[in-house]
Amino acid sequence: MGMSAGNYAKKTAIVLALALGLTGICSRAPAAPKEAKIGFALSMTGAAAAYGETQKNGAQLAIDEINARAGKNGIKIVPVFEDDASQPEQGVNVFNRLIFADNVVIIIGPTLSNTAQVTDRIAQKAGVPVLGISNTAKGITDIGNYIFRDSLTEMQVIPDTIRVVKKKLGIKKVALMYGNDDAFTMSGYNAFKKALLDSHIKILTEQTFSKGDRDFSAQLTEIRSLKPDALVVSALVEEGSGIVSQARELGIPVSVPIIGGNGFNSPSLIKNAGKAAENVIVGAAWNESSSNPLNRRFVRAYTAKFGSPPDQFAAQAYAAVYIVLDALKRAGSTDNRKALRDALTHVKGLNTVLGKFSFTKNRDADCTPVVEIVKNGRFTVFGK
Ligand code: ALA
Repeated sequence: MGMSAGNYAKKTAIVLALALGLTGICSRAPAAPKEAKIGFALSMTGAAAAYGETQKNGAQLAIDEINARAGKNGIKIVPVFEDDASQPEQGVNVFNRLIFADNVVIIIGPTLSNTAQVTDRIAQKAGVPVLGISNTAKGITDIGNYIFRDSLTEMQVIPDTIRVVKKKLGIKKVALMYGNDDAFTMSGYNAFKKALLDSHIKILTEQTFSKGDRDFSAQLTEIRSLKPDALVVSALVEEGSGIVSQARELGIPVSVPIIGGNGFNSPSLIKNAGKAAENVIVGAAWNESSSNPLNRRFVRAYTAKFGSPPDQFAAQAYAAVYIVLDALKRAGSTDNRKALRDALTHVKGLNTVLGKFSFTKNRDADCTPVVEIVKNGRFTVFGK
């Protein structure tokens, strides 16, 4: 049977009204969950435990603040903390659990780049965003478009460190030491080598070591005989502390600065190496003395809660939770992984304890580094 033009228009109007009505009902129906489940894969044991401990503290402080302020309509954060044990194999177990059993909306971590280069592939494949807070090796965010980090890479920090050290101390020749079995220490080595060559600083010798080594006397004796103006070291904090202590014990004078990468940037270096840590120079993404009011408040609150001041690892963890919160508010959902990923790409000029924070197009951190030196047992600003 045919339908007249009038009838057709009437029927179309009814169908349209019904559809609009249904849409209206749908948008009023079940409210989006207001709890966001965030997974944390942090190194609470193993080679990177010194970093994991302050990362967990920094994250917990941010979560406590956010949850206390959430009220009825805000977003509450439900954390799931896991120990990646500083090992890729354990990192894989943790990522699988967080993604497929806990159903987290995002994973913050893992602590080491060496772990991230394996685990982040699992998250990318599963469509789960990852926000690295201490991964500084090259190539981590190249794993895919779900991988972000708020930690500056060795390549972003080291050229500036070498430029400042050359300008202030006029160094001309150095010895270079690096761990040859770790993604981050290798990345730091490559960044140092390029920066030194670009600055026309001579590399007198290159010496290597591995994770877990305790005796560096062979390498340091060789280095001492060459009389470098500075020692340049790409190491995690455990091996870094041993190198710094033994360099001074073997008679490399404190007037010869020891320049480290991101792995050196931890109060445990000062705790472990004591007086030998004086004059250690590091590039950093954060410094305690920054006058940013947000930072002042963070340092006060962290110190009151944990009994010692925060370090860069705590600051990057604290900032990460607020970066995720900012994106969650714009994602329109607290459990939609794709929407959260998309919202993260639009984090722009966010006021954080790291300063105004944005992601680069490649989802790396866009903030300003600073060079620090250990003086009287504390990291202090060395120069710009
Ligand atoms: N910055 C170190 C890493 O990337 C902790 O592994």
